[in-house]
Amino acid sequence: MTLPPLDRIPPQVASLSDYEALARERMSEASWAYLNGGSGDEWTLRENTEAFARIPLRSRVLREMAGATTRIELFGMELAAPILLAPVAFQKLAHVDGELASVIAAGALDSAMVVSTQASVSLEDIAAHAGGPLWFQLYIQPDREFTAALVRRAEQAGYRAFVVTVDAPVNGLRNREQRAGFAVPSGIAAVNLAGMRPLPPASPEALLFGTPLIESAPTWSDLAWLRDLTRLPILLKGIVDPDDAVRAIDAGMDGIIVSNHGGRALDGVPATIELLPEVAQAVAGAVPVLMDGGVRRGIDVLRALALGASAVLIGRPYVHALAAAGAPGVAHVLRLLRAELELAMAFTGCSTITAIDASVIARRP
Ligand code: FNR
Ligand code: LAC
Repeated sequence: MTLPPLDRIPPQVASLSDYEALARERMSEASWAYLNGGSGDEWTLRENTEAFARIPLRSRVLREMAGATTRIELFGMELAAPILLAPVAFQKLAHVDGELASVIAAGALDSAMVVSTQASVSLEDIAAHAGGPLWFQLYIQPDREFTAALVRRAEQAGYRAFVVTVDAPVNGLRNREQRAGFAVPSGIAAVNLAGMRPLPPASPEALLFGTPLIESAPTWSDLAWLRDLTRLPILLKGIVDPDDAVRAIDAGMDGIIVSNHGGRALDGVPATIELLPEVAQAVAGAVPVLMDGGVRRGIDVLRALALGASAVLIGRPYVHALAAAGAPGVAHVLRLLRAELELAMAFTGCSTITAIDASVIARRP
């Protein structure tokens, strides 16, 4: 049996991690496995958080903090802090209100939400509840005409940037999901993909290679097609290779998100916080570089900004809060993380986001 969502936030909730236990009691075993699992042996998943803890910081004293702010501007959008909600599919698995609760929370906290292609609520309904800027995460579908229509729908609904996720061309059942018997329950679906032409069946002998899914997986040439479809900023999510980052910029992309899909794509990829510096160096300020994976504390946000990120995204922590307490939970997570970031900036003597640089790191990793 699972418990109903809380109707108020218990005063004992002191950090993002406190939502994990509260969420677990409110989700089925199978949905819990989907939300928290990673691919393979989950080494990358563990590394994403553990690598942050290996980066020591330097506190600095007596600097002027009058007028300090966490505000940033990104692609012409004003945000209260460099913290966005990452695209997470099927949020109705966590709470009946699903993505609607998350977007209300993002709006209330002056933050931006990146809505998944596989959201369990229509992109128009989500936009109707938005109070802040919305970005649309796009999986380029085998049906390219349908993909183009999705881009137009998102533009019409008022989305202001596209995040094209490129690190998960295929998404097999993860071990943890398989062991828990996960399947998307009836009544929850990727509603924005309704009506898409289905893929032809794969031959029964085929594993992955030769299946229609891999044969139609997007390539660099699709980016030129996409670039011509929209004038909105396009970010590529799932870049960890500096050469790929340079190639993305050459293809006219407006931003990079250093991500390993929260340890859900290729297991064995190092933590994103370890890969960020070389990607940021290759990009050399040409476009904003964002990152996600393992951000759990304000000091993690500080570390990421110090190592070259313009902003970070959080995934699982806000979905834990969503499961625990709906929109107020997600809003609380954004508020907690900003409060911790302000504290971290005060302790390191950084009064603005742009003041955060590698000098706050005690020893470079
Ligand atoms: C994801 N992520 C993801 N990414 C994406 O581009 N489209 C998607 O639909 C999803 N769906 C999704 C579902 C679930 C359950 C999880 C946990 C993650 C990846 C997500 O955007 C982000 O990269 C990671 O979650 C960041 O890592 P943390 O913050 O969860 O450690
Ligand atoms: C996932 C897909 C939906 O990570 O991106 O589950």
